Amino acid sequence: MTTILAIESSCDETAAAVVRDRDEVLSNVIASQIDIHREYGGVVPELAARHHIEAIDFVLRQALLQADTRLEEIDAIAVTQGPGLIGSLLVGVMTAKAIAWQRQLPLIAVNHLEGHVRSVFIDHPATPFPNLSLIVSGGHTALYLCPGEGDYRLLARTRDDAVGEAFDKVSKLLGLGYPGGPVIERIARDGNSSRHDFPHAQMKDGSLDFSYSGLKTAVRREAQRLGLDQESATGGEVSDDVRDIAASFQRAAIRVLVRRTVKACKREGVDTVAVSGGVSCNKKLRESFAGAAAREGLQVVFPAPQYTTDNAAMIGAAAFLHYERGEFAPLSINADPSMKL
Ligand code: KG4
Ligand code: ZN
Repeated sequence: MTTILAIESSCDETAAAVVRDRDEVLSNVIASQIDIHREYGGVVPELAARHHIEAIDFVLRQALLQADTRLEEIDAIAVTQGPGLIGSLLVGVMTAKAIAWQRQLPLIAVNHLEGHVRSVFIDHPATPFPNLSLIVSGGHTALYLCPGEGDYRLLARTRDDAVGEAFDKVSKLLGLGYPGGPVIERIARDGNSSRHDFPHAQMKDGSLDFSYSGLKTAVRREAQRLGLDQESATGGEVSDDVRDIAASFQRAAIRVLVRRTVKACKREGVDTVAVSGGVSCNKKLRESFAGAAAREGLQVVFPAPQYTTDNAAMIGAAAFLHYERGEFAPLSINADPSMKL
């Protein structure tokens, strides 16, 4: 029996979790800073770092308490080393190093993106290889070919905005608030998604890469044409025009993800897809992928909703791969804001 205490602080959630034997999550505590950043319409890095410092001690204690586990029973400390905001990452990394040093425990440095990939395996441990792993979050839109466990080959990434970032920016320009994903999803439910035919970028070089800045600009232009950027700023009732734009945007944003992923499956001869990251919480996205999977004879798997947005359970789950291989980090490691997977 192996028990790992994991810490995640790469962006605006301070999170800690206790994970046992790969996929048994004993606790998964998240202190969200959404209320703090909401008034600024996005994450303010300096504020995020300061709040991580304030929250981390309590979050760690809660994670141990809820897992009914004492620090003496922990076999290794895992932490997100990157990518993310430097000030935020540092709080987690320094805390993990301090505990590892004081308790003489092995330290495991985890790539945040590998955490998202492995979040799927918490509830679907038998997901077959090879598979394609699509990460859709606020900071990343990336498609990996995974020939085997722990092997990641980048097939496509976004050339500008991440898809979650597009949800956040569109929400902001429609005056709907932060974070945009959940609000857009809710507003879009009563909207007409075929009213606007927003474009999706095709790469001229035939690459599978994504691009979301064109879609965002098209939405902004349409919103201005309808005078919505003015109306919504007043904070009144959400109009049908806003709902239709939100629904049409959401449809366009998801459609390109599904199409590129299906294309990549055919090109690589792979029939299993794992979709993870904050945007994979979206029900329309899940339905669209499920529909395409049924049509194309593919299998698509998602993390449980609580493991889609940033959390430490996924960092603990990813850490097991390194623990089993004896891949430990020295106490000299530093946070790596642009860490690659
Ligand atoms: O994975 P995550 O927590 O953080 C990063 O690693 O970036 O993802 C956060 C992103 C935000 O952009 C948020 O708007 C988006 O995920 N998101 C959603 C939904 N829930 C969160 N996007 C669409 N629909 C949702 N239900
Ligand atoms: Zn994330």
